[in-house]
Amino acid sequence: MPLFYELINGFAKIAIWHIAEEKNFFLKKVPLQREITHPHKQLQHLAGRYLLQHLYPDFPYHLIEIADTRKPFLPNEEYHFSISHCGDYAAVIVSKDHRVGIDIERVTAKVERIQHKFLNEEELEMVASWRLPVDSMLTDQHLNFLTLLWCCKEAVFKWIGSGGVDFKNDIHLKPFDLNFDEGIINCEFIKEEKNHLKIKYKFFDGLCLAWVATK
Ligand SMILES: CC(C)(COP(=O)(O)OP(=O)(O)OC[C@H]1O[C@@H](n2cnc3c(N)ncnc32)[C@H](O)[C@@H]1OP(=O)(O)O)[C@@H](O)C(=O)NCCC(=O)NCCS
Repeated sequence: MPLFYELINGFAKIAIWHIAEEKNFFLKKVPLQREITHPHKQLQHLAGRYLLQHLYPDFPYHLIEIADTRKPFLPNEEYHFSISHCGDYAAVIVSKDHRVGIDIERVTAKVERIQHKFLNEEELEMVASWRLPVDSMLTDQHLNFLTLLWCCKEAVFKWIGSGGVDFKNDIHLKPFDLNFDEGIINCEFIKEEKNHLKIKYKFFDGLCLAWVATK
């Protein structure tokens, strides 16, 4: 069963699908909503739409519109939802009354090279202060937590939905307990006003998931 993870709480449902099926499996339930030529990207897109229906069988996927920012949405806001994919995984979060954002990332060394592009000075100091059990800064755990910071900012970006976000200056992640399984990171999104957000995260083997849900 390729349903890899499911979490249902009072105000949101979250699921991850491990894509092991052919395109036709998904096409029986949901259509490709935009032109996608790359076969694996087609599968990722379809798996995301499929999961929306898995979580809410009455999800009106045929009413989904795509904003100029590429954010998918339902005009009547019957559901708020967010989709992410990486490799053979698709993740979604759906809520009836909370604004949501989700991101799933594979842990790779690439994040080490680009950290200065998405982390501000305070966050880079936090990274430098991490006292992880092994000497090398390039340990697996270091990469896990660095990937987590990227994943959090992407989830907040999707929660915002309107684009025009400077990852360094607009999204501030606060120091958190380094817990390898799951946890919460406090965040401030500073644009016209200050928004305090709680980002939840969970690690799986080589994968990191982060999500936001607010009223
Ligand atoms: C839009 C973006 C978040 C997509 O991320 P990605 O890594 O390509 O892919 P993901 O699989 O995580 O997410 C793709 C899904 O996000 C959703 N999405 C796309 N744009 C979105 C937006 N503006 N808001 C909310 N959700 C969006 C879509 O559902 C899409 O899947 P679908 O087309 O199958 O429906 C990303 O490309 C982006 O622009 N990030 C901001 C980059 C940035 O500003 N970086 C600066 C710091 S270095």
